[in-house]
Amino acid sequence: MFIVLEGGDGSGKSTHSRMLAEWLKEQGRKVHLTAEPTPGRIGQFIREILSGEVEVSPRTLALLFTADRAEHVREIEEALSEGNTVVCDRYYHSTIAYQSAQGVSREWLIELNSFAPEPDLVVFLDVEARRGALRTSTGEVFEKKEFLEKIREEYMKFKGLKVIDTSRPKEKVQEDIRKVVGELL
Ligand code: TYD
Repeated sequence: MFIVLEGGDGSGKSTHSRMLAEWLKEQGRKVHLTAEPTPGRIGQFIREILSGEVEVSPRTLALLFTADRAEHVREIEEALSEGNTVVCDRYYHSTIAYQSAQGVSREWLIELNSFAPEPDLVVFLDVEARRGALRTSTGEVFEKKEFLEKIREEYMKFKGLKVIDTSRPKEKVQEDIRKVVGELL
């Protein structure tokens, strides 16, 4: 089973991915917890761009995120074939939402990412844009309120996302995530 957690900056994705992975392990499952951008060489270069060290066009950034994903997909497929439940913090939806919010053609981004296997479940951790901007403190480039709102709009265009309201206590949010995942098990 392949589960993706998506969300805007500051939605608590990473914490919830970890908590979900722990819970799945407690259920006796083999779990592969992973994230994009990856820690690989392409992912490292992406981090340099996000921190403002290097500047590239949004289209180049989309290609880099997608290249990072093309490598990541091999790791994901291997983990799945070994019987793992894969929990992935961000996937192609991030490229389509963030880079189309940056002005790149959504259709082109969808086509570019069509190689990526479909997850069994995509959970979208919804955070009201303003609160997201307050919660993040990484100083990365994608933190302006209007921009976060645009990203959220782009996410909402996807069909079939399980949208979870993150304006409640962390435990409640995690409980809801486990509920939608549990329905699939
Ligand atoms: P991430 O490490 O998930 O940051 P955070 O946990 O703070 O949300 O992602 C880094 C940034 O990269 C984040 O602002 C989202 C952005 N991003 C894209 O713009 N496109 C993509 O394809 C991905 C995977 C991430």
